[in-house]
Amino acid sequence: MSYPYTRPRRMRRDGFSRRLMRETVLTADDLIYPVFVHEHAHREAIASMPGVERVGLDDLLRVAEEASGLGIPALALFPVTEPAAKSTTAEAAWAGDGLVQRAVMALKQRFPQLGVITDVALDPYTSHGQDGLLDESGYVLNDATVEALVRQALSHAAAGADVVAPSDMMDGRIGQIRGALEMDGHVHTRILAYSAKYASAFYGPFRDAVGSASALGKADKTTYQMDPANTDEALREVELDLDEGADMVMVKPGLPYLDIVRRVKDAFGVPTFVYQVSGEYAMLKAASQNGWLDERACALEALVSIKRAGADAVLTYYAMDAARWLREA
Ligand code: PBG
Repeated sequence: MSYPYTRPRRMRRDGFSRRLMRETVLTADDLIYPVFVHEHAHREAIASMPGVERVGLDDLLRVAEEASGLGIPALALFPVTEPAAKSTTAEAAWAGDGLVQRAVMALKQRFPQLGVITDVALDPYTSHGQDGLLDESGYVLNDATVEALVRQALSHAAAGADVVAPSDMMDGRIGQIRGALEMDGHVHTRILAYSAKYASAFYGPFRDAVGSASALGKADKTTYQMDPANTDEALREVELDLDEGADMVMVKPGLPYLDIVRRVKDAFGVPTFVYQVSGEYAMLKAASQNGWLDERACALEALVSIKRAGADAVLTYYAMDAARWLREA
């Protein structure tokens, strides 16, 4: 009987050697917390996202204080627009005193060191729930939408947003936004491009949260968001956004798309962010609430896996919990 000289289990035997050989370590520095803001003072639960709430501006400051205290570097803001403010042309998106613009100003005044990321896309503001302006046939117009997105991004930068994050998937929008920011003197405003954003059914709970689901109805976003079956196209989108002036790129959703994350990171070596989206959160929550999964263990495993695949940071509704869990660990 012969015995193996190489026994991988030796290194796994004790905590000290497991820790020494660990390649990927998740910390609060890797987390971005998405927050839904609305015009009301009260906190409002979101049925399909237990533990996530829509908050008013006062509570937003409380959230920001807690996030800062936990060492989370940045928040990402998502507005819940009042139905009356929505239109086919989405001009509420670039109102100087709009909800997002006021939220950014309030945050930067109180917590100047906390990064503020804003979503550049028209879907919270359109009466039809699409991310852009439509022609008579219902097709999302590219270049007219980009003009609106430029106005929106400029208004976010003027309010003090540190990072604008176009999540719309129109062609050429990064270059147009970058040019306009430079012309307007916003040379430090970073662009986080949602470069490889897929037409995913995992966004369902988010659309409930911002109230675009009912407006969208049975329509989908397949004429601009990417086909889940594709990978080469993701690299092409990332390359274009980088050439046009993106500082960071994003892959979205997260866990079902880790092959894309790895390819993007290997091919470009640029700051690569991942959005662990609402449906991913909802699945973990629902299974945990049924007692079928250990929430803390599974959420942390999903996040470390996203980082292991090549992500430098993760937008996650688990950011606050994860930062707390990591402190306790
Ligand atoms: C809107 C936007 C979406 C998400 C972020 N920005 C939804 C969509 O494209 O329909 C999804 C985030 C999530 O599901 O958590 N442009």
